[in-house]
Amino acid sequence: MRYHFASIDSTNTWAKQNHPLFAKNQITLVTADTQTAGRGRFNRKWESPAKQNIYATFSFFVPPAQYALLGNIPQVLALSVVELLTDMGFHPKLKWPNDVLIAEKKVAGILCETTRADSLLCIILGVGLNVNMPLQHLRTIDRPATSLLAESGLTYDVETIIEQLQQCFEKNLNTLLLKGFSPFLDLFRHYVFTDKKIQFHANNRIWEGKIHSINEDGSLNLQLQSGKIKRFLSGEMLF
Ligand code: BTN
Repeated sequence: MRYHFASIDSTNTWAKQNHPLFAKNQITLVTADTQTAGRGRFNRKWESPAKQNIYATFSFFVPPAQYALLGNIPQVLALSVVELLTDMGFHPKLKWPNDVLIAEKKVAGILCETTRADSLLCIILGVGLNVNMPLQHLRTIDRPATSLLAESGLTYDVETIIEQLQQCFEKNLNTLLLKGFSPFLDLFRHYVFTDKKIQFHANNRIWEGKIHSINEDGSLNLQLQSGKIKRFLSGEMLF
């Protein structure tokens, strides 16, 4: 099922409020031409100009037995975006845990939220992908951002990309829920930046170190300046 809005506050907010309408055994897709209150991680604003970009929320239900995979769900959506952009001729990378970058600038971000639905957990998985956003607008964003237009000089049909992403993500989500994260591990490790000196924000402090490796569960190993390796399940790389 798909719900599309010409304008909405946020596709994630709408999905969270309306999930009782959604079928329990399939993915519901909520999209909009524009968002008046698009949200990013850490309560940031997500720029959502009309008809230029993708603002989409995939919503579905998971039983308690699959809660161990919750952290991998946004990673698999990020990989789906990467797969699609690679097929389109771009050279995307992943900034752990699930930002998609081209030329070290953010082209797509993912906001994963959850809400209880009886004995199940409703996943509200939003993705914003900058498609035809022009340079003038990208320059007003307070961190390095890009779009497919800015990288290639070409404009793209937003609806076609939504449909391709929907297909790719549905396939990948089925694999994740059946087989776990292991089928994605090599690809995830391939696309994530490693061996890069960074500052990392987690547990209310900034850690300095080098991105060391990705564990089998998708968590991050950071090599601290002391040489010690520390594992993180969440956080934000500051670059
Ligand atoms: C981030 O990188 O901070 C996450 C950005 C997520 C933006 C998308 S756009 C569709 C969905 N609705 C929202 O309000 N946010 C997500």
